[in-house]
Amino acid sequence: MPVRCLITAGPTREFFDPVRFVSNPSSGKMGYALAAAAATLGCEVELVSGPVALPAPPGVRLYRVITGAEMLECVGTLFDTCDVLVKAAAVCDFRPCAYSAQKVKKEAVPCSVEFEPVPDILKMMAARRRPDQVLVGFAAETVNVEAYARRKLQEKRLDWIVANRVGREGGADLPNAFEADTNTVLLLSAQGLREEYGPAPKPDVARWLLQTMKIPG
Ligand code: C5P
Repeated sequence: MPVRCLITAGPTREFFDPVRFVSNPSSGKMGYALAAAAATLGCEVELVSGPVALPAPPGVRLYRVITGAEMLECVGTLFDTCDVLVKAAAVCDFRPCAYSAQKVKKEAVPCSVEFEPVPDILKMMAARRRPDQVLVGFAAETVNVEAYARRKLQEKRLDWIVANRVGREGGADLPNAFEADTNTVLLLSAQGLREEYGPAPKPDVARWLLQTMKIPG
């Protein structure tokens, strides 16, 4: 039986009205590279993707979603039959409390907006996981990358967390992690393993991550 990998990728969007939303600059490249690498290694791969401009990797079943609620619904349906969940998606952590079914006229747009949290998909899956399932999270941080990643590893009850720094470091020209073709990652395990890799092209990072986490085994 092939190992079943459920991978999420890309951003999510949370709408104020039919034409306006909050989101983030995730390109989906890291998650798609992981899906492609896992399929090449013989895994059965299901990829749940937010809106990105990438084609489905060969041999991967692609599910397209837009909002966090849609991603939760899709992941929730597929989770119980997967062996490995890799949550590379940059899910919007919050969404506007109110939604207007009609486009809000410019003059009527409020100066401030109230937000509410989006359910933490990874945490919800961790709460109902089987002991034999492997859960991998991502942590994008601008500061204190390792400390915050460790906290997420514990709080979300994961087996692995992949941490990376996002943003333009020290005013440098190149973005890091989000949107970029390369990435530098710190991989931490619940068992205490700590490994670093990169900077390297995302397909290389994907292969290295799967190899180091022993997926498919
Ligand atoms: O807490 P934070 O958003 O930094 O955690 C990042 C990790 O949690 C990623 O693996 C992301 O896919 C997942 N996540 C989630 N649902 C959310 C927010 C984050 O599954 N609402």
